[in-house]
Amino acid sequence: MIQAGKSTAGAAGRRLRYGMVGGGEGSFIGAVHRAALRLDNIAELAAGCFSRSFEKTAAAGSLLGVERDRLYENSRQMAERESSRPDPIDFVVIVTPNSTHYETAKNFLEHGIHVVCDKPLTITSSEAVELVALAEERGLQFGVTYTYSGYPAVRQIRELIRRGDIGNIRFVSGEYPQDWLAEPAERGSGNAQAQWRTDPSTSGISNCVGDIGTHLEHMISYVTGLTIRSLCARLDTMVEGRRLDDNASVMLEYAGGAKGLYWCSQIAWGHDNGLSFRIYGTKGSVSWSQETPDRYELAVTGETKRTVIRGRDRFFPGAETLVRIPAGHPEGYYEAFANIYRSYCTALLDRKSGITPSAECEYPTAVDGLNGVRFVEACVESSRGGAVWVELGQR
Ligand SMILES: NC(=O)c1ccc[n+]([C@@H]2O[C@H](COP(=O)([O-])OP(=O)(O)OC[C@H]3O[C@@H](n4cnc5c(N)ncnc54)[C@H](O)[C@@H]3O)[C@@H](O)[C@H]2O)c1
Repeated sequence: MIQAGKSTAGAAGRRLRYGMVGGGEGSFIGAVHRAALRLDNIAELAAGCFSRSFEKTAAAGSLLGVERDRLYENSRQMAERESSRPDPIDFVVIVTPNSTHYETAKNFLEHGIHVVCDKPLTITSSEAVELVALAEERGLQFGVTYTYSGYPAVRQIRELIRRGDIGNIRFVSGEYPQDWLAEPAERGSGNAQAQWRTDPSTSGISNCVGDIGTHLEHMISYVTGLTIRSLCARLDTMVEGRRLDDNASVMLEYAGGAKGLYWCSQIAWGHDNGLSFRIYGTKGSVSWSQETPDRYELAVTGETKRTVIRGRDRFFPGAETLVRIPAGHPEGYYEAFANIYRSYCTALLDRKSGITPSAECEYPTAVDGLNGVRFVEACVESSRGGAVWVELGQR
């Protein structure tokens, strides 16, 4: 499920204030979130608990210009103290390892603070169900940063599929190969990202499917609107001694009868961040690749196969609003992130002004996060059972 928001600035007459949990020195994605939020100047960083060590939080906070009294020892303290200030943060951004998402998000929701959390939402679906219910009960906005759905070309593809341009979907092929874990990068002390991702206590029951398979699952669900009915998965651990999967092959059946095949891998030499999909319908096909996000290939029966280019070729209105600069000037990861944040923040500003957010722009929600966690659990269950078919409940 995607929530709608307006693409214009809200009527609250001020920038939003946000806090961040995680994203300290040497981390990866926190800095990307901060940069994306700066692109539209719609929210300012006002508080933080950037690390488990207060010394590191203080160092990061000073570099980022956060006032000293808004730097916190832990996220619990941050939720308590922020919610009792006259000028609290409007929302929190959670960019810590997977196992901490649930407690942290729950804490902020219980203190009435809106949440953005990175994927995978939680490490068990029961935790995710609880967060969805809590956000709904409290009337709080919950975004999950499935980054890649923020690209204009992805939005365009979703619209053309909705219009029926390629007919009814018969088959989907999705892949997400990387090579950064082709060797045991988690051994030794240098690579924190590899260490926690391959450790079940911080990553959850899966590494590869949880880390990048969830992006694939969300992307396909977003562009096609298909719901997974059942799947059959084989998870492999190719690097000796590694405790979790680093390669996964999944066959899928969707409600309505379409079929799919996903492959995600972190041991695929030569691939950096190769998220891509090909979707085949009764009238045509469409394909897209994350490493060339401005363009997609469209083949429709009776027409010449063509490459459609962001900025050069006119997109449908919803997708066109995400285009920031003219053709030939590449847009990428930061802009995709910023598009998600622009929607999230605009919807939040509207909500604060008593305006019902409109259907013009969108961001992935906690329900999308829950579906991702259910996908991970089904893949692990199937693989542990010897690659058996497993039914999947989605909301
Ligand atoms: N959307 C995307 O494209 C994308 C990309 C990368 C990572 N992610 C997700 O973002 C999350 C973080 O990944 P990363 O690669 O940036 O990890 P990282 O290891 O680079 O950074 C984690 C940060 O969290 C801090 N931290 C850990 N526990 C904490 C706690 N209890 N309180 C406060 N700070 C704490 C660490 O000190 C570090 O600064 C993960 O859930 C990951 O799956 C999403």
